[in-house]
Amino acid sequence: THQWRGIIEEYRDRLPVTAETPVVTLLEGGTPLVPAQLLSERTGCDVYLKVEGANPTGSFKDRGMTMAISKAKEAGAQAVICASTGNTSASAAAYAVRAGMVCAVLVPQGKIALGKMGQALVHGSRILQVDGNFDDCLDLARGLSEKYPVALVNSVNPVRIEGQKTAAFEIVDALGDAPDIHVLPVGNAGNITAYWKGYREYAADGMSTRTPRMWGFQAAGSAPIVTGAPVRDPQTIATAIRIGNPASWKFAEAARDESGGLIEAVTDRQILSAYRLLAAREGVFVEPASAASVAGLLKAAEEGRVDPGQRIVCTVTGNGLKDPDWAVAGAPQPITVPVDADAAAERLGLA
Ligand code: F0G
Repeated sequence: THQWRGIIEEYRDRLPVTAETPVVTLLEGGTPLVPAQLLSERTGCDVYLKVEGANPTGSFKDRGMTMAISKAKEAGAQAVICASTGNTSASAAAYAVRAGMVCAVLVPQGKIALGKMGQALVHGSRILQVDGNFDDCLDLARGLSEKYPVALVNSVNPVRIEGQKTAAFEIVDALGDAPDIHVLPVGNAGNITAYWKGYREYAADGMSTRTPRMWGFQAAGSAPIVTGAPVRDPQTIATAIRIGNPASWKFAEAARDESGGLIEAVTDRQILSAYRLLAAREGVFVEPASAASVAGLLKAAEEGRVDPGQRIVCTVTGNGLKDPDWAVAGAPQPITVPVDADAAAERLGLA
């Protein structure tokens, strides 16, 4: 059979699972590594997009969630809880269904995309909108998991990082070696931590000859790692990375420093421009937060900081269908035509 088996079966020997671990999976991972034509032209490099929006619930979170829910089930948990800006909640909700568990999610009031709210609801999870931001939600989720019989499945749970590191394995498997640079959006900083772990483990085992420089990009209005201090009221249109006090802050700094990389900020304007470019010129529809990686690469290239001839991978973390409002806003309104070929042809500029 050629069916992809999900990240636990594909990378079992590199993950903390045993024969006793119940594998709760939606066959996540195995996502496309798409050559990016325009980005390669603009940078003089070979640029690839790791399209994580192709995962079962629409984001990279599924890699971590298959591990977190499988381990929670192994430990006998009957309920899981998470804080989320959207994607984690959708993923936890779906995997909890597969595991027969109750799922509770805490989201910031009014700051979660409708698509993600819909997923959490249709999978039957219990949603609480918290009168606060993501950082408040995470504090609350942690507190609840310490006091009550409910397992925390945010990326502060180390098995989440274990699952997410498999994306680095897939990239090395596809390219035959690690890229020169790996670019990611950074929010709570779990994913940059996970990729760096994956690249290091593969290199240590001789699966690659090197590790990439890790480039992380935060949104300018919520860039605590860049400014060096928590942001009390983080602001950005990229709701997924609207996070003022990242849980994996120290690990992200380690990934940056050990790899010879960088963590910088991109403005909402740069994010939206990369978002539109990805859709209009590469055919890849991502959510705004995902475009932060590409915005950062383009910014660095414009400033002459990207040497040509390198191999670069940008992770685009989530599917654009999460929040189609951004795609529709500012675009020309569709026109209505009668059921008439000539009229339609005229409107399309064919006649
Ligand atoms: N991109 C997307 C689409 C995300 O959903 C997230 C995080 C990130 C990037 C940042 O990744 O936190 O590992 O640095 N979303 C979390 C959530 C916070 O609740 O879904 P990170």
